[in-house]
Amino acid sequence: KVNRAGKKVLGFLDGWKGLVEGNFVELDVEGTSEIVPLGGTIIGTSRTNPYKNEKENIPKIKKVWAETDLEVLVAVGGDDTLSVAHRLFSEEKLNIVAVPKTIDNDISATDFTFGFDTAVNNAVEAIDKVRTTADSHHRVFVVEVMGRHAGWIATYAGLASGADVILIPEKEINMDEVIEILKHNREHSHHKYNIVVTAEGAVFKKGDYITQQGELDEFGNVMLGGIADQLSRIIEKRTGFETRMLVLGHLQRGGTPSAFDRVLGIRYGARAAQLALDGDFGKMVALRGIDIVVVDIAEGVAETKKVDAQLFKTAEDFFHP
Ligand code: F6P
Repeated sequence: KVNRAGKKVLGFLDGWKGLVEGNFVELDVEGTSEIVPLGGTIIGTSRTNPYKNEKENIPKIKKVWAETDLEVLVAVGGDDTLSVAHRLFSEEKLNIVAVPKTIDNDISATDFTFGFDTAVNNAVEAIDKVRTTADSHHRVFVVEVMGRHAGWIATYAGLASGADVILIPEKEINMDEVIEILKHNREHSHHKYNIVVTAEGAVFKKGDYITQQGELDEFGNVMLGGIADQLSRIIEKRTGFETRMLVLGHLQRGGTPSAFDRVLGIRYGARAAQLALDGDFGKMVALRGIDIVVVDIAEGVAETKKVDAQLFKTAEDFFHP
């Protein structure tokens, strides 16, 4: 029941919910040695935000912490999870270490979060398949990928699959430009189809069209989806090209992780365990180049990491054949 360092490891179930409610399982070597090729998480997750009902939940967390005799908590997640981790460390002085995990790749102070590479590979595989119909029917295909505030998946998947246009939240959609590119590419390239990759969080230039809005989750995030539908209608109307759309949704988040993500996850885990053993709290593991480094959690959650301008410029250079 103890690992090589002589420590017992508990996995709190369904994210912060498990810590608030005191629900956990013991994680031992036998139970975890074969999880590397698995996607998702064996301890579950949820969009529970303990700060939504702070007065009730924070004392509950402290009670569970004391009762389970916790020495350190390793928080694994994206901006929402890590923001809570940061508050528990800075405001409640709890011993926390953080690991950046999200398909969105939008955590600051790290080059990559794990999950991102898998999502990009899934998206590229789907776009490669959609190309068959696009080509045979001479259609425009608008493919919507995840990315609320940052268009990392759209940029990487679009570049890797040779999309005609990539639309990201960082840059308002200029519909005139999109139409011009699609028409130009039909005329000047040998293939008679087009692929548009859009992030779910892409928005129209003010005054052009109204971007659809969804409901909010516990962290106040808009539950997105629908921009591809709008785009495909506008594109078909303005170009006269037959247009279809595909929302990849949770398909891109599923399945087995890529080798890159497996290795990154293992390296992050090993470094986080070392931080926990060293008592180096309030820290987040990060990737810089090919090195695993350590930064303050505060740096990781300081701001949303937007798509690199130089990278997007390279993508834009390919919008015309
Ligand atoms: O934050 C990760 C993410 O996959 C986003 O890219 C996406 O907008 C969101 O989660 C979807 O959330 P849910 O699974 O709760 O619908």
